[in-house]
Amino acid sequence: MKILLLGKDGQVGWELQRSLAPLGHLLALNSRSQAHCGDLANLPGLAETVRAYSPDVIVNAAAYTAVDKAESEREQAFKVNAEAVGVLARAAADCGALLVHYSTDYVFPGQGNRPWHEEDLVGPVNVYGESKLAGEQAVQAAGCQYLIFRTCWVYAARGNNFARTMLRLAAERDSLGVIDDQHGAPTGAELIADITAHAITATQADPALAGLYHLAAGGETTWCGYARYVLEHAAAQGVPLKAHAEQVNPLTTAAYPTPAKRPANSRLDTHKLQRAFALTLPDWRLGVARMLTEIHEK
Ligand SMILES: NC(=O)c1ccc[n+]([C@@H]2O[C@H](COP(=O)([O-])OP(=O)(O)OC[C@H]3O[C@@H](n4cnc5c(N)ncnc54)[C@H](OP(=O)(O)O)[C@@H]3O)[C@@H](O)[C@H]2O)c1
Repeated sequence: MKILLLGKDGQVGWELQRSLAPLGHLLALNSRSQAHCGDLANLPGLAETVRAYSPDVIVNAAAYTAVDKAESEREQAFKVNAEAVGVLARAAADCGALLVHYSTDYVFPGQGNRPWHEEDLVGPVNVYGESKLAGEQAVQAAGCQYLIFRTCWVYAARGNNFARTMLRLAAERDSLGVIDDQHGAPTGAELIADITAHAITATQADPALAGLYHLAAGGETTWCGYARYVLEHAAAQGVPLKAHAEQVNPLTTAAYPTPAKRPANSRLDTHKLQRAFALTLPDWRLGVARMLTEIHEK
């Protein structure tokens, strides 16, 4: 099996390099790759890459993910998150490849407290969400076989992440203020990559499994709950801190204005994915605890 991976160095892309490697021959590209074009802003180059490599599976982990910047860079966000995705989807249809693509809970309006189902009415509240929704629609219109995974609150052990920021701030300050009225589940790039590999294998065996799925870790929290968990875990491991979990104060979104509006309800209902692929999605604390242990052991 020939697999084309785009966005190989992002949070999810990096983990996919590991999880996809055993499935077949993997061509992994980023925007600067030379031998084949992996730049999603270069639409003819992208189409030529698919034509030349003729993959069985295309996995698109590349995206314009700067949520606040997208408000002032609408054209670039749409080019990468929608137009390029349409090019990939049509190229996948032409060569008979399965296209795996990632989307977001930001396609939903974010009200209420019920986890979103796949068929719920969409209504993005910011430009990034609009561009990601346009990407989903481009995939669905192209006539290719696809897996779209909507996920939320993605973190990875590699590079900067929310947990590292909380640990740094808690070592410097006596107290922290963290948003407590946005709800979701921190979801590890590792988990997303492992499930992607499993779903590709299952869909190759049973094409009826292709479709749109919600993919997030189990349980739910707020950013404030997440921060408190990180500091509790660090304290239990003997990490010296000035601010402990009790010194993390809840903030409202209104008190922390950002250029892009954020949905309050990022909860995703994942029953469809768990049923279709016979999987269990572990509680978010499991992946976060593993990531923290790796950070503290360094
Ligand atoms: N992060 C989240 O919380 C979250 C939540 C829900 C859904 N998602 C979705 O999950 C997927 C993976 O996200 P992630 O967290 O892994 O994102 P990420 O860490 O920001 O990685 C995105 C990757 O896309 C690459 N990229 C950007 N513009 C490109 C272009 N023109 N050509 C080629 N590559 C380009 C970036 O490379 P450079 O850095 O070199 O530009 C980066 O490596 C995305 O579809 C995202 O929309 C993410």
